[in-house]
Amino acid sequence: MTIPHPSQRLSARLAQARPSATGAASEAARRLAAQGRRIISLAEGELDFDTPAHIQQAAIQTITYGQTRYTSVGGTPALKAAIVTKFARDNGLDYQIGEVIAATGAKQILFNALLATVDAGDEVIMAAPYWVSYSEMVRIAGGEPVVLPASPNADFKLTPQQLQAAITPRTRWLMLNSPCNPSGALYSADELRALADVLRTHQQIMVLADDIYEAIVFDGAFCTFAQAAPDMHSRTLTVNGVSKSHAMTGWRLGYAGGPQWLIRALELLQSQSTSNPSSISQAGALAALDGPQDFLDGWRERLRARRDMALSILGDAAPWLSVRKPAAAFYLYADCQAAIGALTPQGQRLADDAALAAWLLEEAGVSVVPGSAFGMAGYLRLAYATADDRLRLACEQIVAACQRLQRA
Ligand SMILES: Cc1ncc(COP(=O)(O)O)c(C=O)c1O
Repeated sequence: MTIPHPSQRLSARLAQARPSATGAASEAARRLAAQGRRIISLAEGELDFDTPAHIQQAAIQTITYGQTRYTSVGGTPALKAAIVTKFARDNGLDYQIGEVIAATGAKQILFNALLATVDAGDEVIMAAPYWVSYSEMVRIAGGEPVVLPASPNADFKLTPQQLQAAITPRTRWLMLNSPCNPSGALYSADELRALADVLRTHQQIMVLADDIYEAIVFDGAFCTFAQAAPDMHSRTLTVNGVSKSHAMTGWRLGYAGGPQWLIRALELLQSQSTSNPSSISQAGALAALDGPQDFLDGWRERLRARRDMALSILGDAAPWLSVRKPAAAFYLYADCQAAIGALTPQGQRLADDAALAAWLLEEAGVSVVPGSAFGMAGYLRLAYATADDRLRLACEQIVAACQRLQRA
């Protein structure tokens, strides 16, 4: 065993965190692609559409007009005004300019909110399956993720009873993600109100409503937490961004509304770390929020058609895979428990969902993410925001590979 040099010491804070499993899946796929294999990735959490032309133009103009300098740390006054308008228009939420912030992705807001408010030993409740970064962000902030398994029979949604049973004096946050990555679960207004009923008397608990998939809802109506429970407005951080709604993942622009004390803390953290989000991306986000929204209906219908096509093809992967129809977002969370322990044609026994995902990459040439990355093992996450013909082929190849499995 080699002994690390004394200089090679990470902080205890970082030593708590695990690397992103979605990143690892993409990396494995890239390695095979570099060897000349044709790999279709269903691992990426982003739309394959181009950023709309009016947004591109707004950003280009920002460069040509020379608006390429530092801006206010929490975003330009124009972008903040557009964020206030967006929350009022789409969510019925009334925020003042001092209660909103723009940041380098919704991810930065989530991370900074936890860093700003979580002390060692504080607990943060989240339902599994959850987005991969939630638990690790809590750990890096020094807190304890309290993971509550959401039952598939409850459509992967947290129940008020589960929430009630998990609350302790150390509970600091409930992290809510609706529509959910990876399950596609969408909480109704009534379900959010039932969670609010549990939280109301626990004054120390804040709610982080991660609404990043708001624009991609197929069945049911989107409602954000503070809209469902207006009396919880001052205890809620409403997080959103243009990454998933306007096909702008690379622009790195997210935003939030929340109580002024918290928004000030987020600005303080940004001011001492990254400063303002890119001025060019801010101009793009301004065009996204203020500009036409009607094209989103067309995008949603294309995604709905892909969801339904993938579901129909993957039906033939039974009994190894069983897939529910998600209400929202662009992921399928396929139950693969029947395939665990199965034998591959190469004589390998598939020990868990990670082994199945690794085998599908080799055998089917399709990259997916094992559910264990999202805190709920025995599942695979398939992102279907990919071109129709590639998605069809990927699903057919998964089915063909599954049909070669045998019971041990
Ligand atoms: C649930 C969830 N929240 C937040 C983010 C981060 O979004 P952004 O690109 O704005 O940082 C993602 C990205 O995958 C996500 O899935």
